[in-house]
Amino acid sequence: MCLKLLLNFLHIYLGMTAKLTKAPDVPEYFPEIGGDLSSVTWSHATNSLVKLQDAINDPGLMMLEADVLLGVLTGGGPETIPIMAHPPNTESDLSLQNFLEQVILANANGIRKGIKLDFKSLEVVPIALGMLGALSNQMGFPAWLNADIQQGPVNSTKNPIDSNQFLTECKLNFPESTLSVGWTTRYGIDVFPPIVSGEYTMEMAEGMLKALADNQITQPVTFPVRAALTANSESAILALLEGTPNSTLTLWGPETDYVNVAALKEVVIKVGRERVYMDIPEKLKDQLVDGVKVGEQSGQSKRSLLGTVATVITSVLTAVI
Ligand SMILES: *[C@@H]1O[C@H](CO)[C@@H](O)[C@H](O)[C@H]1NC(C)=O
Ligand SMILES: *[C@@H]1O[C@H](CO)[C@@H](O)[C@H](O)[C@H]1NC(C)=O
Repeated sequence: MCLKLLLNFLHIYLGMTAKLTKAPDVPEYFPEIGGDLSSVTWSHATNSLVKLQDAINDPGLMMLEADVLLGVLTGGGPETIPIMAHPPNTESDLSLQNFLEQVILANANGIRKGIKLDFKSLEVVPIALGMLGALSNQMGFPAWLNADIQQGPVNSTKNPIDSNQFLTECKLNFPESTLSVGWTTRYGIDVFPPIVSGEYTMEMAEGMLKALADNQITQPVTFPVRAALTANSESAILALLEGTPNSTLTLWGPETDYVNVAALKEVVIKVGRERVYMDIPEKLKDQLVDGVKVGEQSGQSKRSLLGTVATVITSVLTAVI
């Protein structure tokens, strides 16, 4: 009797924390990672109906990454709307609205998936954020809004998305989302001959901190940084994280990049495995986490750990009864 009451309480408690949290943090929504951000898994360019269905049905994936721009819907009219596509594509069979509705439905059915939307143009930002804002009260899963908002290494001349406009729209329409804001890059085989050295400078870190401060950003922030360039940027990266409360790092990078693994591992150790997402090739990830413990846990990780403990207790009790 007593056990049953306790069980019910635990179920209600867990249900409440899952439902009432609008766009929860990743470690909160996926307590099974035990606060180890490096173990979060990602889909990439989930930009078509088929790719989205496959990703939703893949139990190994936690976060669905997809690109957003203004374009036309396959078989639809000539008008441009927010669609899921990566430049230079300007047509897709998947609109942003459809993407969001399908992910909302999946999560409502207990298929836990978070999203990372990568904004590829400034023109799509206001209309896409309007859609996100309208649906945000149904988005009880992690939602990241990503854009390159600063020019970065090595001497990148690619135009970033205007930082003030992007941050303003995100803050206004979807303050519960996580901002994933980074730099344009030019490295590796992006150019010929390939570039094999470069770094994020202190000036770049200061530029990013200024953009966040100017826009009085208080929502969670993650900094997507190209793994190879991060290896040589320890002080800039630490300054960036120290200057931004509750911020994390997200390592990314193509298989083809030359990476100084030993140097990058030093950065990972300094920052802490519980503060670094790793959206990088599996082999590199294995090398970076080998022998590195998940260290001092943040308040958020502790909460998710409590969630894990509660889940374990519930299943043990269920088994006993
Ligand atoms: C970047 O610019 C600096 C200063 O102009 C120059 O010395 C350096 O060679 C450039 N690096 C690359 C890879 O273009
Ligand atoms: C950091 O996150 C914790 C837990 O979510 C929260 O209580 C705290 O206010 C946050 N700190 C800042 C400075 O935003």
